[in-house]
Amino acid sequence: MFEHDTKTWRLTVAATGQTLPAPAGQTLLRSLLDAGVAWPASCRNGTCRTCIGWVEEGRARHGIEWPGLLPEEKAQGAVLPCVAYPENDVCLGGPGLKP
Ligand code: FES
Repeated sequence: MFEHDTKTWRLTVAATGQTLPAPAGQTLLRSLLDAGVAWPASCRNGTCRTCIGWVEEGRARHGIEWPGLLPEEKAQGAVLPCVAYPENDVCLGGPGLKP
């Protein structure tokens, strides 16, 4: 969706401390899978919530207008990595909702 943006950010998996490259024009899920991280996913279109996690640090934006998140979940930093793109270095919590 943002293929014109060639910047590559750093994605950190909070649970393991693993860091990996996260190109701005690629979803966080794609970056996770490309690095061999076994992150759960199903629909890959922002509907099923299987991939849900949360942004601990940094910023990510959803590439679709209505990702399957409640407003209060969004306010707590919840993110659907299958349709979310990094806007800077991101530390990703999950998988799952923030405890
Ligand atoms: S895989 Fe279904 S919402 Fe991300």
